[in-house]
Amino acid sequence: MPTISDAITKDHRELEHYYNEVVNNSGNHDHQQRYGNQFTWELARHSVGEELVVYPAFEKHLGAKGKEMAEHDRKEHHQVKELLKVFQGMKSTDEDYVAKLKEIWGPLSKHMKEEEEGDMPALEDKLSSAQGQSESMATAFSYTKAFVPSRSHPSAGEHPPFETVMGLLTAPIDHIADLFRKFPQETISPNPSTK
Ligand SMILES: [Fe+2]
Ligand SMILES: [Fe+2]
Repeated sequence: MPTISDAITKDHRELEHYYNEVVNNSGNHDHQQRYGNQFTWELARHSVGEELVVYPAFEKHLGAKGKEMAEHDRKEHHQVKELLKVFQGMKSTDEDYVAKLKEIWGPLSKHMKEEEEGDMPALEDKLSSAQGQSESMATAFSYTKAFVPSRSHPSAGEHPPFETVMGLLTAPIDHIADLFRKFPQETISPNPSTK
């Protein structure tokens, strides 16, 4: 059974893969569009999944320090979501398509590194007191990701329950819109509930 850290790290590596597919395939606009769409889809869901499942766990298990970590991470998410909101509306034939993705990648890669090297080990340390706690959080994280928006909708502070309510409202609209976007495997969207 994967732990919550495993689940987070796996998503981060996938995002890195999608990013590289866009950046390293200049000229192949169809390929770049598919992977750019996949990047948006994964990053939007990953971010809200963390806001709903992981950051509240920092606050619950790590006291004042955890609250600080959660606030810091929510601010960074907000910054990235504002950039993603622009990128998701762009076409791969746009002159600054790759430049915009690189603009996202700067703060995002730093944020993911902090999560992997600082935040998640601190949380795992606390979760280890109860057997299976981290694994059940990983399950909650993957279920949550199936029901959240798949486009960026920056909100005031990225705090639940606002994220939860907005997610319930916007997710179905995003998921229908995905049907008309191209993704790497198919011409229709990957079904979020299968991943
Ligand atoms: Fe994050
Ligand atoms: Fe993350």
